Amino acid sequence: MSIEALSGKVFLLVTGASRGIGRQIAITFSSMLEEGSRVLLLARNKDALQEVAKNIPSKIKVCTISADLSKSTDTKFEGVGCGQYCSVKAAREMYFKVFALENPDVNVLNYAPGPVDTDMFTMVCEKIIDPKAKKAFNEMREKKTVLTTEQTVNRLVQVLKEHKYNSADHVDYYDKL
Ligand SMILES: NC(=O)c1ccc[n+]([C@@H]2O[C@H](COP(=O)([O-])OP(=O)(O)OC[C@H]3O[C@@H](n4cnc5c(N)ncnc54)[C@H](OP(=O)(O)O)[C@@H]3O)[C@@H](O)[C@H]2O)c1
Repeated sequence: MSIEALSGKVFLLVTGASRGIGRQIAITFSSMLEEGSRVLLLARNKDALQEVAKNIPSKIKVCTISADLSKSTDTKFEGVGCGQYCSVKAAREMYFKVFALENPDVNVLNYAPGPVDTDMFTMVCEKIIDPKAKKAFNEMREKKTVLTTEQTVNRLVQVLKEHKYNSADHVDYYDKL
């Protein structure tokens, strides 16, 4: 079964492509693309982006751009807490819903990757202030229930292949398909 959105000549833009989930999406999705497709990888760390680009098949044209996406507004993201993090995710969910309604030809998937072992997860384990949340995050590590980037991106591929969601639906790693 193929993924409709990755069929034919595709332009794939991956933000946060230098590490973590974005890096894995760039590698896994690119391996499924046809010749003539183009991939654009965005993040701040140019060297890391170029390392990711080396994992993409040579038949695909890859471009890397070092960009600080937080500089597009005046907002400072330093020291973002759970409140702001969750507010941004809620805003993204509503934005996707409105965008999907206004653009019925665009297929939008709001995928929640589950707890994934990345730099972000390490940072949360170390810096989260709420002691209960800190304990819960660290227990996931100790019990080895944190997902790998491969696990969550493979699930994303499965969700896209089966395509049982409506545009802008929120689909979590743990949801039944
Ligand atoms: N890990 C989890 O458990 C988990 C769970 C739920 C949702 N998520 C979500 O999944 C997404 C990816 O998370 P992750 O765990 O893969 O994080 P990560 O390992 O920390 O990677 C974050 C990526 O974003 C890029 N980035 C950060 N700040 C940037 C900026 N100002 N401008 C441009 N690029 C920037 C980083 O690259 P540079 O440093 O090179 O710029 C990196 O490629 C996030 O939206 C996160 O909220 C993660």
